Amino acid sequence: MAFDPLQERGIPLDEQLRNWRELDVPPIDPDHVDPYTRCRIITMNGIETEAILFSHQLARHCTDLELKRQLARVRYIEAQQQKVVNWLLPGVSSVLETTIAYEQVAVDLTAWVARMEPDPYLTQAYQFGVLEDFDHLYRYANLYEMIEHRKAEKIVDGVTEVMPGRPTYLHHRDPVDNVREPYDRHRTEPLSKLHALTVMAAEQQTMNYYMNVGPLAMEPIARRLYQEIGMVEEEHVTHYESLVDPGESWWEMLLNHEYNECYLYHSFMETESDPKVKAVWELHLNMEIEHLRLACELFKRFDGRDPDQVLAPELPPPVTFEPNKAYLRELLATQIDCTTLGTGYVQEAHERFSRMQEAVMGGEKPASEQVIDDNRAVSGREYRLETEGPHPAGMQLGR
Ligand SMILES: [Fe+2]
Ligand SMILES: [Fe+2]
Ligand SMILES: [Fe+2]
Ligand SMILES: [Fe+2]
Repeated sequence: MAFDPLQERGIPLDEQLRNWRELDVPPIDPDHVDPYTRCRIITMNGIETEAILFSHQLARHCTDLELKRQLARVRYIEAQQQKVVNWLLPGVSSVLETTIAYEQVAVDLTAWVARMEPDPYLTQAYQFGVLEDFDHLYRYANLYEMIEHRKAEKIVDGVTEVMPGRPTYLHHRDPVDNVREPYDRHRTEPLSKLHALTVMAAEQQTMNYYMNVGPLAMEPIARRLYQEIGMVEEEHVTHYESLVDPGESWWEMLLNHEYNECYLYHSFMETESDPKVKAVWELHLNMEIEHLRLACELFKRFDGRDPDQVLAPELPPPVTFEPNKAYLRELLATQIDCTTLGTGYVQEAHERFSRMQEAVMGGEKPASEQVIDDNRAVSGREYRLETEGPHPAGMQLGR
């Protein structure tokens, strides 16, 4: 059944406020949860965080007091939604366990988006990025085995493989080469706009998370690894945000944000296996339908256009968390040695890339390589979870 959020009736804004008891949701049970339920929670936390930060930026550019008040009212609800969503995660999970789940999100969300993306230039941007987060998952899984003496398969649950991607030390590019070309807002498919916003928000959340939790680690290797991968997440935010057409007006951007929230809550409501979590997705969808209606009014008033001119006629097929093993293996076999040059991609280490590498390494092995050596020394071998056979790019991936 086609679902058009513009034709639905949501919950009036006045009725969206929840009290403390309603916000205090019971967390998921980490030992029995579907790993993709956890992935949906982490994704929606990133989406709500972006909704809040975007609204703050918009308010700071807004001179009309009444308008600022309306933004503040909706934003307060977004902030409540973020609390409910992120508080579904249980306190018993360690920071490193949550980190591994964050990288699993980056892998399976980005791989899905790459598979569904209609524009080949954008597809390439997702294919490029996914091989890096795939490698982060492997580095953190080795750290996890070494310092918490547990295995990442308990978290990723065998639906996502853990093995080297494009080696993390090769992710450190000159910032100039992280900027992509944007899509053209007049020509692009509505789905492409939603994809770019979704992956941008997820990467931004990962960037913020490592910024804040990295120094909480005590082991020197863990502190260094969070710093190194944290810098790559900054590159990823630059990479994905530059895909969004910067010519969109603030009101068009607001409209796209609210529409995307509807799209994702609807997607996750359709695909959720945990009934309690599904009820949250459904409730929040009904709130977002009203946020979207309000954003449509602002768009009509200040942009002078009809929302139908920029939005999809109905929601695209649901964003689905599912294994992407064969797809990722194909990318590993063909794109592992890519880097960026300007807004394009090349397969050799060009001069600007090499200069950046030399500058950041300072003549030493980075933490992302050291952690594998260290775990080999402690556990007798490195950690991998290769459920579909040997690595498609061979074993010669170390330095
Ligand atoms: Fe929201
Ligand atoms: Fe990552
Ligand atoms: Fe990333
Ligand atoms: Fe919203």
